[in-house]
Amino acid sequence: MTAFVSENELEYQRECMRRVRAMQSGATAFVDTYGCQQNEADSERMRGMLREMGYTLAPDERADLVIINTCAVREHAEQRALGNIGHMVHYKRENPAQKIILAGCMAGEPGARERVRRSYRQVDAVLDTTNFWRLPETVLHLLETGERSIPDTEPDSRIAEGLPVVRTHPHKAYVSIMYGCNNFCTYCIVPHVRGRERSRCPQDVLGEVEALVKDGCRDIMLLGQNVNSYAGEGMDFAELLGAAASFDGDYVVRFMTSHPKDCTHKLIDTIAACPKVERHIHLPVQSGSSRILKAMNRRYTRESYLELVDYARSKIPGLVLTSDVIVGFPGETEQDFEDTLSLVREVRYDSLFTFIFSPREGTPAAAMDDPTTREEKSERFARLTDLQNEISMEIHSEAVGRTVRALIDGESRGGELNLAARTQEGRLINLAGDPSLTGQFRDVEITGATTWSFIGRLK
Ligand code: SAM
Ligand code: SF4
Ligand code: F3S
Repeated sequence: MTAFVSENELEYQRECMRRVRAMQSGATAFVDTYGCQQNEADSERMRGMLREMGYTLAPDERADLVIINTCAVREHAEQRALGNIGHMVHYKRENPAQKIILAGCMAGEPGARERVRRSYRQVDAVLDTTNFWRLPETVLHLLETGERSIPDTEPDSRIAEGLPVVRTHPHKAYVSIMYGCNNFCTYCIVPHVRGRERSRCPQDVLGEVEALVKDGCRDIMLLGQNVNSYAGEGMDFAELLGAAASFDGDYVVRFMTSHPKDCTHKLIDTIAACPKVERHIHLPVQSGSSRILKAMNRRYTRESYLELVDYARSKIPGLVLTSDVIVGFPGETEQDFEDTLSLVREVRYDSLFTFIFSPREGTPAAAMDDPTTREEKSERFARLTDLQNEISMEIHSEAVGRTVRALIDGESRGGELNLAARTQEGRLINLAGDPSLTGQFRDVEITGATTWSFIGRLK
């Protein structure tokens, strides 16, 4: 049974927003976002609250209020955020009234508060992902008292509905359908920092999707760490997806991320039956060795994963599959790694996100014996990316000459190819065109291919 933040508590946050608004005029705020789409979605809500508090959204860290929405998934992500927090000292020296809030997944790590209290004096408040709806209360406290706010809060297991939002793009939207994760893969920090799974009510999700579609939104991404374990009252994920894709209008529904253990035939049949659902499944496999999958606590085997892929491909012609792989999990032998290579050869993913295992304090894998050297891991990593690049290039080259329907996504940094577009399968096309086409579906001829994307021409 999902628990919700009460109307009284939300009203108190609204009251705080009004009080902050009355205290200042012309103040600026900046939200710096690291990590995955979940953080992007949270940042959009934070910007919504900041706007209600009267802040003007600023483009960089010189703002009067800076929120650093951090990621903790790998050491590299943490180092980037910490480096930036270190840098903030200079901005604060220029603007001593500046307030800095550490938010996101690092804020939920065991020990993070203590570390900030001791070593990051420039940080004024810490707000973990389960408590970020308390942003107005936190900002008001900082402005009224000038004191730091780094309470030892527990993760909040409730859902806060109805928070304001500033969407980054008018034509596309993230819709979080659930929060947290119960899977406890042995390498992963996410369940430790984002708390247990909780699903929004289907009416709330579908109401939001319908309003977005009416508003002209063309690209809706249903979000969750493990969307297919969604358990809203009376609806599973397949049913929710089917319903989200059944409103009148020209739009596409995507979802991220599916866990193979919960990817049911019913879900695949739903994708096959709903033309508005993207023909793409991101299905992280992590390893091709059943032995390593067991040590990772993934709860599927190489064989069951491959069966699932076969079923999906038999039901959804043209399906695009992408995946995540971790190289160098503790105890991964050369044979285990060969199993990953052979699985990648067999599945032929469109693209892969590959990571070298990064030990995360407090997770079981961080304490496992790990005799493989960094050099061996890097060498395996290079072999895997070489293989995938070859496969991606072969698959992408086959599409050259075809004309596809694509949603113009906006401007890109591609020089002459100034626009980015997405196909019905979620593949990226770079092309030249008028930026005012953003948000429109257009026919595009594929004229070239790279390992990550296509080059195209508007028809
Ligand atoms: N919930 C999604 C799932 O289960 O597939 C993924 C969430 S995680 C934010 C994204 C990817 O980061 C994972 O699929 C995994 O490949 C990678 N990852 C997570 N923890 C990691 C670690 N400790 N070291 C290296 N990669 C990691
Ligand atoms: Fe992490 Fe596993 Fe949960 Fe994904 S399913 S967020 S990898 S614990
Ligand atoms: Fe990072 Fe948190 Fe996402 S750890 S990948 S921002 S869920």
